[in-house]
Amino acid sequence: MAREIVLWPHKVLNSATKPVTEFGPPLEKLLAEMAEAMQEAKGIGIAANQVGESLRVALVGREDGTFFEIVNPQILERSGKVTLEEGCLSIPNEWEKVPRNEKVKVRYQDRTGQWHEVEAEGKLAHVFQHEIDHLDGQVFVEHLSSLKRSLIQERMKKLQKALKRQKD
Ligand code: CO
Repeated sequence: MAREIVLWPHKVLNSATKPVTEFGPPLEKLLAEMAEAMQEAKGIGIAANQVGESLRVALVGREDGTFFEIVNPQILERSGKVTLEEGCLSIPNEWEKVPRNEKVKVRYQDRTGQWHEVEAEGKLAHVFQHEIDHLDGQVFVEHLSSLKRSLIQERMKKLQKALKRQKD
């Protein structure tokens, strides 16, 4: 069974993740479990803290269904501004327009520890920023007005209660 996705609000989602220092089978296992959880939930990106692992690892989906595995990513350059609709596996059924940079240049390591640089724009650039935000302990609703955020938080409390009732 795939790993369960942590729902917001939760401490692990609002804490900065730790850099990866060991490249090997435990990291490969985590990447496989993250891919499974993301695909099962039909997401286009996922961060390790969304499956409860506070490590600087994320998957960033391309339009064609393939994805980047990014370890210890940093945004090197940002430019332009564009607002696109976003959702999040940790905040189900909520879609909001989020302003972000239109283009980003990201440096990251792959599963073997080798460094890469990639330039992304448009939707892909949003996904990179959304996932790297997660690794820094931020979810997308933190880019919204406090009114919108508190309405979403109320709905999430109800959802979490309903899910808890189902389990009990
Ligand atoms: Co998300």
